[in-house]
Amino acid sequence: MITNTELEYKGNLYPNEIVDVKQESDKFYFTTDNGVILELTVIRNSAVRFRYATEHLFQPDFSYAISENAIKGFSQLEFRETETEYWVETARIRVLIDKKTLRTQISDKDGKIINEDELGFHWEENYTHGGNSVKMSKITQASESFYGMGDKATHSNLKGKRVNNWVTDQYAYGKDQDPLYKAIPFYIGLHNQIAYGIFFDNTFRTHFDFSHERRNVTSFWADGGEMNYYFFYGPEMSRVVQAYTDLTGTPELPPLWALGYHQSKWSYYPDSQVRALGKQFRKLKIPCDAIYLDIDYMDGFRCFTWDKEKFPDPKGMIQDLEKDGFKTVVMIDPGIKVDRDYWVYQEAMENDYFCKRGDGPLMRGKVWPGVCSFPDFTNPEVRKWWANLYKEMIAETGVHAVWNDMNEPAVMEVPTKTAPLDTRHNYDGHPCSHRKAHNIYGTQMVRATYEGVKKFVFPKRPFVITRAAYAGAQRYSCTWTGDNVATWEHLWIANVQVQRMCLSGYSFVGSDIGGFAEQPNGELFARWIQLGVFHPFCRVHSSGDHGDQEPWSFDPEVTKIVRKFIELRYQLLPYLYTMFWKYSRDNVPMIKSLVYFDQEDPQTHFRTDEFIFGDQILVCPVQEPNAKGRRMYLPRGNWHNYWTGEVVEGGMEKWVVADIDKVPLFIKEGAIIPFYPVQQYVGEIELKQLTLNVYYKQGIEDSTVYEDAQDGFDYKKGGYSLRNFKLNGKEKELIIQQYKDGTYETTYDSFKIRLHGLPFKIKTIEVDNVKVPLDTVRLNGDSTIEISKNFTELHIIGA
Ligand code: GLC
Repeated sequence: MITNTELEYKGNLYPNEIVDVKQESDKFYFTTDNGVILELTVIRNSAVRFRYATEHLFQPDFSYAISENAIKGFSQLEFRETETEYWVETARIRVLIDKKTLRTQISDKDGKIINEDELGFHWEENYTHGGNSVKMSKITQASESFYGMGDKATHSNLKGKRVNNWVTDQYAYGKDQDPLYKAIPFYIGLHNQIAYGIFFDNTFRTHFDFSHERRNVTSFWADGGEMNYYFFYGPEMSRVVQAYTDLTGTPELPPLWALGYHQSKWSYYPDSQVRALGKQFRKLKIPCDAIYLDIDYMDGFRCFTWDKEKFPDPKGMIQDLEKDGFKTVVMIDPGIKVDRDYWVYQEAMENDYFCKRGDGPLMRGKVWPGVCSFPDFTNPEVRKWWANLYKEMIAETGVHAVWNDMNEPAVMEVPTKTAPLDTRHNYDGHPCSHRKAHNIYGTQMVRATYEGVKKFVFPKRPFVITRAAYAGAQRYSCTWTGDNVATWEHLWIANVQVQRMCLSGYSFVGSDIGGFAEQPNGELFARWIQLGVFHPFCRVHSSGDHGDQEPWSFDPEVTKIVRKFIELRYQLLPYLYTMFWKYSRDNVPMIKSLVYFDQEDPQTHFRTDEFIFGDQILVCPVQEPNAKGRRMYLPRGNWHNYWTGEVVEGGMEKWVVADIDKVPLFIKEGAIIPFYPVQQYVGEIELKQLTLNVYYKQGIEDSTVYEDAQDGFDYKKGGYSLRNFKLNGKEKELIIQQYKDGTYETTYDSFKIRLHGLPFKIKTIEVDNVKVPLDTVRLNGDSTIEISKNFTELHIIGA
């Protein structure tokens, strides 16, 4: 392979000296003598875009990834020139552009280097396809680490690795196998306590080399398109991830039921089996909110049809399931069966909506139904049509949500596993071949699905899932990590992938719990559930041909453990929902790798297993058979062991006991964690009280609880309840203050405050400065206090 790091390679072309400079408000154009233009755009004080043209020619500026709502604006912008460089300076960073080479260097205001070009931008003309391979190389800084890049099934720290992005149907993938289902060309660099991010917004196949080929060089390149990347400065990793996520967007809040437990298999049928499945959940009292129908519900795998034998009355079945509290989610694939008598095929043919090959014929390929044609979802008219196809299924039959699969697109029996590269696409009015459209195809499909589902479930909220994704797909859809395997190694992979996706702006993610291919034993299934309930998307799914994977498919002990952990997820729903709200509104990843949580502690830079669920819960799955516990690293600070109540000091590795019915679980001291009662499904119970688990700390800690109607859009008009709690613990005192916002009235009137780790005996309690007789506050043996949900200050004084 030709890489951009082989200095000797003769095909590479480089910019030479700058001969012209122009400024147009926030944009600067530096033109070199040999016709290269660098367009540098200041987006925010700490975000800059670099775009390079060769031969004086930019392609039209168009991106599917960038969110319309991305924040722009900076407070300061200066431009200067020295003998050797141009300087573009914002309130937070300084970009130097070398006059002779067009190479750039970015530093903070103290001159500390954040990121600098090695060879910088260079390119190679592509005589086979036209255009260029565009390349960039940077100097790797001392002890630099790298994170992000979507769903890569490899060590969380990418240092020393080379990866590429080409969304691929990768059945039963292995550790380190690359590429997989997602193309998220965004990475975070961390060195000298400085974090920065680079988002290479190019949908062609992209490549990244993190000091793999040469120890001191990091490079990225694409097989076509433009060198077009965004740079984000931290120095905190949180700022980098939030800035990238702001640029590429976040989803709206999902309905709360989407955060419940979901059960799937390829496939549950006929309808009697689906009904029986629902009954079994209720009988065994294992909470569950959604049941999935995989491809076999369709008539000969034709999308938007029903197999009338297996499902004679889908509407009736869906209604009955709904009465029992289940939502029905169905699969829709992109391949449309070539069948002249099939209405979807007919409509697409009549309107010329299918993709065509370079020379004109229709693009065809085999998927489940046999030979298929593929709608060109990069055509806005096709997306509109596709969205409307959901009308009957949702508005009439009552399906609640949709799951898009095989949308890489996956094509069977061809070595490339996808559409031929000469296939043409509209690309929203920028016609191109599949080389450019491949990585975005699935995202545009799920975008259309999202529009359709949103339209037809209104006034409820849409819930959509996708397998393939490019950066920005998180605005439309939840996702899962594809066809994994029921092995212990895959449990490790699932953990790393979900953390990595969260760092890559894509938080609504989970794995096929238990493994898709092959069969887990009870122990592996239980351990995987113990991880899966802490993932934003929590679904068991399996290929079905290796045996059953329902919570009761193993032995009674496993069923008990699985129930216990699913119940814990349901108790944690208000916490999880608040995490989602923070993600949706403030771009905060729902799950944080330890390096994100505490980048100043170098111990965190190479950790893979431990993660922070939300802001205040530390989880470390057990990933080996026969374990009675495990060694894990606790980040700095004090942590309450959830199971034992013991308070332990972090900043070191520890052995933590976790027999098969436990997972290492710690709560940050000072946290206030809201709990709902266990429900069999979201909305089963009208909430009469909210439990607040208060974890004592000597010091201050803030916690938040966000709630709303759990569905619908009133929350956008102020119909939410936001509670901010400030905990202030002293040696013999604990003060909790509540600040409330929003107009939504929760159904409960009181809090049950459960105190954990209080180091003193309670002498008096004051609520809003009024002393409360201890007997009326029902101070129970286990230290719970019941008080009105409207309190402003709770003051507990020790003896
Ligand atoms: C793909 C999906 C899997 C699904 C199967 C059948 O392999 O990844 O989840 O069950 O297709 O539709």
